[in-house]
Amino acid sequence: MSARAIIDAEGLDVFYGSSQILFALGLSVLEGQTTALLGRNGAGKSTTLKALAGLVPPRRGRVRVMGIEFQGKKPHAIARAGIGFVPEDRQVFPEHTVEDNLLIAQKRGPNGEDYWTLARIYDMFPLLSPLKQRMAGRLSGGEQQMLTIARTLMGNPVGLLLDEPSEGLAPVIVARIGELLRRLRDMGVTVLLAEQNMHFCLGIASHALVIDKGQIVYRDTIAALKENEAVKKRYLAL
Ligand SMILES: Nc1ncnc2c1ncn2[C@@H]1O[C@H](COP(=O)(O)OP(=O)(O)O)[C@@H](O)[C@H]1O
Ligand SMILES: [Mg+2]
Repeated sequence: MSARAIIDAEGLDVFYGSSQILFALGLSVLEGQTTALLGRNGAGKSTTLKALAGLVPPRRGRVRVMGIEFQGKKPHAIARAGIGFVPEDRQVFPEHTVEDNLLIAQKRGPNGEDYWTLARIYDMFPLLSPLKQRMAGRLSGGEQQMLTIARTLMGNPVGLLLDEPSEGLAPVIVARIGELLRRLRDMGVTVLLAEQNMHFCLGIASHALVIDKGQIVYRDTIAALKENEAVKKRYLAL
């Protein structure tokens, strides 16, 4: 049985002003898989996720969510179609409690999915449970990252776009986030994980895409990438 694509993009050209950032970029994220989007700082990972989430409109190319065309659609339309985007700058409502941040985001998925409840979230994110009544603005960076992911799950997405969830966090929190991503994968959640750190993605992602200067330069299983010294050296500084 071949998995269907939750997200696929083809020929994306993205510009910021007059400078082109993505060049005919194409990718597919298959249902139930965690795919790593790896590349150095400035390679175009965040821009790719933003283009998929509808935050930066591509000048050319197409984005499909479960086979339906979505290029040129507003971010809320893509979110309603079931794509949850977790940006790198952890946007929580600082003046609201952890629990309110979760409740504000609660909604059914595109097909009426209502799996994620507060109880299931606190089970998945045990660190958040004792912090329910804390103002989100008073959480540590790692706790805010957990809350941002948790809040996105409260919308019952069919696919998650995660932008460098491990960046700048203490090793113990990075390990917790890794554990969380493995649990989500085992539940069959579809994830596109942008990362600079290939090692973080080993044991989480099954497939890898490598981006450099706004183009996908390599795609294979992450196991194959791990053995490919030339690609790692050229594009990932490993
Ligand atoms: N808002 C912006 N305006 C102009 N250039 C930008 C903007 N955001 C990012 N860039 C440039 O686009 C390129 C890709 O950036 P980005 O997608 O953030 O890469 P990554 O997430 O892989 O570090 C970089 O050269 C960066 O300087
Ligand atoms: Mg980035």
